[in-house]
Amino acid sequence: MNKSKQTIILTGASRGIGLGLCQHYLQSGWQVIATHRPASISSGLQALKDQHGEDLWLAELDLCNEQSIHKFAVEMTSQLTQLAVLINNAGVSVNVNFGDWEQASFLSNFNANLVGPALLIQGLYPLLSETTKVIQISTGLASIQENIGADGPFDAYAVSKVALNLLTVRLANREQTKKSIFCAMSPGWVKTDMGGEQAPTSVTEVSKQIYTTVEKLTTAQSGTYLDSTGQVIPW
Ligand SMILES: NC(=O)c1ccc[n+]([C@@H]2O[C@H](COP(=O)([O-])OP(=O)(O)OC[C@H]3O[C@@H](n4cnc5c(N)ncnc54)[C@H](OP(=O)(O)O)[C@@H]3O)[C@@H](O)[C@H]2O)c1
Repeated sequence: MNKSKQTIILTGASRGIGLGLCQHYLQSGWQVIATHRPASISSGLQALKDQHGEDLWLAELDLCNEQSIHKFAVEMTSQLTQLAVLINNAGVSVNVNFGDWEQASFLSNFNANLVGPALLIQGLYPLLSETTKVIQISTGLASIQENIGADGPFDAYAVSKVALNLLTVRLANREQTKKSIFCAMSPGWVKTDMGGEQAPTSVTEVSKQIYTTVEKLTTAQSGTYLDSTGQVIPW
């Protein structure tokens, strides 16, 4: 580990926004610990590894597997002494229309989008300090007030992210964890496998926005729900 560089742990770095963030943080001089699911190192992530060498540490993590989270957390807490940023970016959007709802799709969304990030934060707790920023990648669909896309198939996904938002607020206020900065952040609609081709924002653009917003985050903003440019989203 290079102790002179700031360290970020970034989940779901094999593709999409995670891969874009990985590239942006590396270009900005950070040491990045990028997680990917077992046997899922994409060519894009491998290319970054070839280019950046020891500044990029690839680590296996399956957020739907408790043992995998535990193993990763043990490895991180034994290797690192401090953590500047954790971005819980990995997520799934398992979408089913009303009428076809079943247990499995709700549980898939909750497992990957809420339970996994919760257990990961708990496992990495020894690395959280006053200056650590924990960013929970949420979605605008989780805004109860804005209630976007009520007729779409996104119910299970949206409520899993509402729960992630509440978890973020609870961590920001919990005695044990409130020293660190916790923030729920929506990237907006982004061109990825999840967002689709029609999305207006590129991965490169949103990665830069998220990076800039996270850099400027202050303790006073802990427990907030922001868009990628740092504007407050109504709960
Ligand atoms: N794109 C949008 O328009 C949009 C809008 C609002 C919010 N978001 C949020 O932004 C984040 C990134 O989305 P994206 O568009 O980049 O999605 P994406 O292209 O589908 O990528 C999702 C990433 O999450 C990883 N992942 C999924 N399940 C996982 C698990 N169980 N354990 C570990 N990693 C797992 C995937 O790994 P594999 O490569 O191994 O599958 C992949 O790296 C998500 O939290 C999403 O909810 C996206």
